Amino acid sequence: MRRAVARFMPGESFDDMIGAARTMAADAVTAVFTRLGENVKDLAEADGVARHYLDGIDRIRGLNLACEPSIKLTQLGLDIDRELAYGHLRDLAARAHDAGNYLWIDMEQSNYVDVTLELTRRLRIEFPRIGVCLQAYLYRTREDLVELMGRGIGIRLVKGAYNEPAEVAFPKKSDVDANYYALAQVMLDAGSRASGARLVFGTHDTQLIETIRRHAATLGVKPAEFECYMLYGIQKATQISLVRDGASVRVLIAYGAYWFPWYMRRLAERPANVWFVAKSMSR
Ligand code: FDA
Repeated sequence: MRRAVARFMPGESFDDMIGAARTMAADAVTAVFTRLGENVKDLAEADGVARHYLDGIDRIRGLNLACEPSIKLTQLGLDIDRELAYGHLRDLAARAHDAGNYLWIDMEQSNYVDVTLELTRRLRIEFPRIGVCLQAYLYRTREDLVELMGRGIGIRLVKGAYNEPAEVAFPKKSDVDANYYALAQVMLDAGSRASGARLVFGTHDTQLIETIRRHAATLGVKPAEFECYMLYGIQKATQISLVRDGASVRVLIAYGAYWFPWYMRRLAERPANVWFVAKSMSR
């Protein structure tokens, strides 16, 4: 498992992540970093996670590397106490702001969407450099997207990685893909862009990326006005060719010891990955 997971993460330490970010920088691909972890149930552990990110933001500032933090609220203790999680989130936003960095907030299971967006809006009152992930598989996302962009909150649009019931999310992948494109069109619309919110398309779906880029071109939206994000270890050649085509590309690098649930989501996204693990194990 450890050998197989190495395809998706450069290692377990912050330094492993920095090494990967430096290598990517040589190809003009910038980075987002996240230390794996979720549903932290212990106060001291949540404090430790917050300290890790604070130190990380400081270290990146010293290295002069384009590398932005992305965190999960349940990693900051949301399941224990939402004010505790907000306190940590606020500290991270303040540190990122002082460092000229940016803070991304991941989106977790659908039962966390309301609280995640509520805390994001509250944070935006004080800090302009924040963005949140929205999932195209949820029926509610169109409404959330318009409302959040109106506040100038950066949007990282993804398809969605969790197993959600049909009451809240499109069960069919083709509907998720279609909704992603519909939402991308809303993001690129002149009215939405007026707020200056960052526009990020987080997907490895190369056809979808091309369709979005073509649509942007017909609207006269320049490649520098939106960004394409991918995960470390997936579609590397596409990342580089997008950069050569003038796109802004960032790759999210995950690291840390608590990789199991995150890795299971990566396996679920693509059945071929399961064969890859099986082959590694038999070797
Ligand atoms: P899709 O699943 O249709 O895949 C398109 C193609 O990409 C596949 O055919 C394959 O070639 C390749 N591919 C996709 N996944 C792969 C994998 N695991 N291994 C190998 N190849 C793969 N989700 C969430 O719920 N909350 C979040 O906060 C985030 N954050 C986030 C940040 C960033 C930068 C990215 C890129 C993604 C996320 N995600 C996420 C994950 C997202 O919801 C989604 O599960 C994955 O991106 C896979 O979906 P695709 O859009 O790539 O399309």
